[in-house]
Amino acid sequence: MKTRKITKAVFPVAGLGTRFLPATKSIPKEIMTLVDRPLIQYAIDEARAAGIKEFIFVTSRGKSALEDYFDHAPELESALRKSGKDDLLEILKDTNMDSGAIAYVRQNRPMGLGHAVWCARRLIGNEPFAVLLPDDVIAAERPCLQQMVEAHAETGGCMVAAMEVTPARTSSYGILDIGEDGGAIVKVKGMVEKPKPQDAPSNLAVIGRYILTPKVLTNLNRMKQGAGGEIQLTDAIAEETGSKSGVYGLRFRGQRYDCGSKIGFLQATVAFGLSRPEFGAEFASFLQETMAMQKAAQ
Ligand code: G1P
Repeated sequence: MKTRKITKAVFPVAGLGTRFLPATKSIPKEIMTLVDRPLIQYAIDEARAAGIKEFIFVTSRGKSALEDYFDHAPELESALRKSGKDDLLEILKDTNMDSGAIAYVRQNRPMGLGHAVWCARRLIGNEPFAVLLPDDVIAAERPCLQQMVEAHAETGGCMVAAMEVTPARTSSYGILDIGEDGGAIVKVKGMVEKPKPQDAPSNLAVIGRYILTPKVLTNLNRMKQGAGGEIQLTDAIAEETGSKSGVYGLRFRGQRYDCGSKIGFLQATVAFGLSRPEFGAEFASFLQETMAMQKAAQ
């Protein structure tokens, strides 16, 4: 199938991050750090690997630290250059965006994920685009969005990342009603936002990576309120399940961490810490000792 190249991605980062108070009183949740990189950097790196060239942030008040993070830091850079710290300069490179590659739009009121994406409509225009929720951090040999871009080249239409969850957890996710199950790729015939387990059409959940047609933005124009009184992205995508191009779910290969929750953030910290060659072994023996001490104290 001939699909248009996906070059734009939307990063909804307007949330208040109340689950991480008091930390998020003065720093955006997306700047919170997994080992040595802020959450947002993982999402940006994944998007770049998938060929994204334009990065659209939907922000709100109090998120200026995010804008600074992706800007050049001339004083810091010249100090590092003078002291010959080329390795650190190299690390900083990933945080710099070319002029015009990054754009910020404000979501004035928290009206839901669908509304946040709709706020970026003029910057997206009339082409397919990606959405990445930085709370969902995905460790994968082949970055998740790249897997989706490749699968999307076969299917066209809309595509969401998908993962099975335990039936008790359906009320935390968008859940897919499966039309045809092709293994890795499923054709979706319906979607429900955060259903109770007894109402869930399956236990295949949407994870925060999307490739969407501009038609989804048109659907969002209607501002239909959904679950929790919010304008839900899930509902606007679900409207496309009956369309000619359709909606697909991709069971991606990789480990997803829910960094929107404290336990998920801790799990990601441990996993990413263990995977670092420079101190992974030392960290592993620290964890083993700590576990052994805890056991002995019980
Ligand atoms: C959002 C979406 C939901 C999706 C989830 C993935 O929910 O509304 O459909 O399953 O992200 O993380 P949130 O976690 O923002 O409440």
